[in-house]
Amino acid sequence: MADHPGTGKSRLSLHRRGFLTAAATGATAAVVARGAEAQTSEATPAAGVNPRTPRPVTLSVNGQTHEIGLDARTSLLDALRDHLRLTGTKKGCDHGQCGACTVHIDGKRALSCMSFAVMAEGHEITTIEGLAAPAGDLHPMQQAFVDQDAFQCGYCTPGQIMSAVACVKEGHAENDDDIREFMSGNLCRCAAYPNIVAAVKQARDAIREG
Ligand code: FES
Ligand code: FES
Repeated sequence: MADHPGTGKSRLSLHRRGFLTAAATGATAAVVARGAEAQTSEATPAAGVNPRTPRPVTLSVNGQTHEIGLDARTSLLDALRDHLRLTGTKKGCDHGQCGACTVHIDGKRALSCMSFAVMAEGHEITTIEGLAAPAGDLHPMQQAFVDQDAFQCGYCTPGQIMSAVACVKEGHAENDDDIREFMSGNLCRCAAYPNIVAAVKQARDAIREG
């Protein structure tokens, strides 16, 4: 699964960037050949199967299980937005460079535009819609963004908040420099950066205690 730029290695071996890079460099054939050797006859796809044919995919999102049919090449971002109608997760660059599509997978932040939906099977996905308490109370980080006026147009904000929560939970919120470094993969064209840092600091203690 794709992590943020400069903040760690991918936790699953196959993600969208790697697949597309392999395709672009001609390495796909070797990858496919190696994979074919390891497959059992049961797992070998039938000749002539169209990869665009939807296959059943089960996704656990915000505590709910969804069974949908997806082209195997569908990104997690498109699955969330176009198939599950969870449009809080935003599409900015669709190339892993802006952070607008940030979600949590098993509690770790990930770029959903750079992750295949099929690779998220068996993992717990949290989106901005799943961050608030069931009763509707804002998450401490959501409240901090409101209190600190940490957005203008708001387009980057869901991704900023998901990253900010991970910033605290993963132990990178000790000082302003740490926060800026961890949040550097989330771009804000409105330049609300000082307010975002202030919001992270405001929510830090509440999240740790929670
Ligand atoms: S939309 Fe995913 S990083 Fe920009
Ligand atoms: S608030 Fe407008 S892009 Fe960040």
